[in-house]
Amino acid sequence: MVSPAEYQADCLYRVLLPEGMTHPVLYETVKALRDKVAWFEGIVVVPEYRRRGIGLQVKRFVDRWAAQHHADFIISSPSNAAARRLNEETGHKVLEPGVDLVFKLADFDTGEESRVVFPVERGMDPTGVVDAVRQLRVPHGRSLRFGQYPVPAGAGVDLDGREHHVPAWDYGRIGWFEWDARGYRGMVFAPAPGMRVG
Ligand SMILES: CC(C)(COP(=O)(O)OP(=O)(O)OC[C@H]1O[C@@H](n2cnc3c(N)ncnc32)[C@H](O)[C@@H]1OP(=O)(O)O)[C@@H](O)C(=O)NCCC(=O)NCCS
Repeated sequence: MVSPAEYQADCLYRVLLPEGMTHPVLYETVKALRDKVAWFEGIVVVPEYRRRGIGLQVKRFVDRWAAQHHADFIISSPSNAAARRLNEETGHKVLEPGVDLVFKLADFDTGEESRVVFPVERGMDPTGVVDAVRQLRVPHGRSLRFGQYPVPAGAGVDLDGREHHVPAWDYGRIGWFEWDARGYRGMVFAPAPGMRVG
């Protein structure tokens, strides 16, 4: 149900790094994704017990559990209105459809941040699944900073023979998420840097 974001880390590595190549920023980013980010698969409450607060309790428990297991952030993919609302109620930032969740390597002790920004590999489901993320605790040292970037029409590139979510990044702005103890607080906008690896 909840686990380290290994699948996302593997996708990122596989999609962006042709065999035999190395890239230090990508390597460190993938490591931070594995070490500091949790992935929540989903939650189902038996229909006759819905709207009694069980979903809220489970979601809060999962967030706490992930934080206790050293996750700074948790990501999930709510697939309907109820799940989106549940995420918002528990302090998660729920993205709009067609908007990419992005992240970059950041050192929260020194304030240094990488200029290379990566998208979360969201899979192929076009049926209204969106991304949601929440900061679970104040990060220290090397971790990730999350934000959002709209997908410009027709900007997908094909690095490995299939469509995916790497848009042309070098224009527009990224909204970087800000958090407080209650969850998502707002966005700080910054110009989108060039995001190609290599
Ligand atoms: C999503 C789901 C887990 C919510 O579980 P739940 O126990 O009913 O949720 P809660 O009672 O804790 O609801 C908490 C809040 O979530 C929101 N919410 C829950 N169900 C909702 C619905 N059908 N429509 C809109 N908002 C909803 C509300 O804000 C609700 O607070 P409120 O009841 O005070 O208005 C449940 O509807 C479910 O199992 N759905 C089918 C499986 C599913 O779609 N899972 C998500 C896949 S990612």
